[in-house]
Amino acid sequence: MAVQKVLRMGDPLLWQVAEPVTNFHDPGLRTLIDDMFDTMDAMNGAGLAAPQIGVSLRVVIFGIESNPRYPNIEPVPMTVLINPIIEPLGDAMVEGWEGCLSVPGMRGLVPRYSHIRYSGYDQHGTRFEREVRDFHARVVQHECDHLDGVLYPMRIRDMRNFGFQKELMGEETDGE
Ligand code: NI
Repeated sequence: MAVQKVLRMGDPLLWQVAEPVTNFHDPGLRTLIDDMFDTMDAMNGAGLAAPQIGVSLRVVIFGIESNPRYPNIEPVPMTVLINPIIEPLGDAMVEGWEGCLSVPGMRGLVPRYSHIRYSGYDQHGTRFEREVRDFHARVVQHECDHLDGVLYPMRIRDMRNFGFQKELMGEETDGE
């Protein structure tokens, strides 16, 4: 287990379409997931995709515990999601502020589906699916975009809503 370097926007690996996981018994998968959690925790992130630490596989992790410092953020269960599929439920989209460990210090206003069903596999290869909304749905869409080589700035509609956290919000917060 080790904290890994997070690739930043501009690194060509972040534009690649990642490969599906085919062997859930590969010990390398366990190491990858451990490294992803160590790295996400070290950087106070809400989510991380394998390509962000240089591994082009369709693996994401995410989760937010309830935090009295951020009372308006709904908790999201700590999740390992492998080979994900996202299905929008309805056309409704909502804009919300996002950040990314690969785009440090920046924030952008990004449209996302507000209601989705997602499915995939956990670290043991067990399939699961969830129907979620709002912030949980946003986190999943952001992380899964990384698996298709998409970073959130590519989805911003008005680039005036993209900038440095400090200037946009007039405050410092950490993480994604
Ligand atoms: Ni990200």
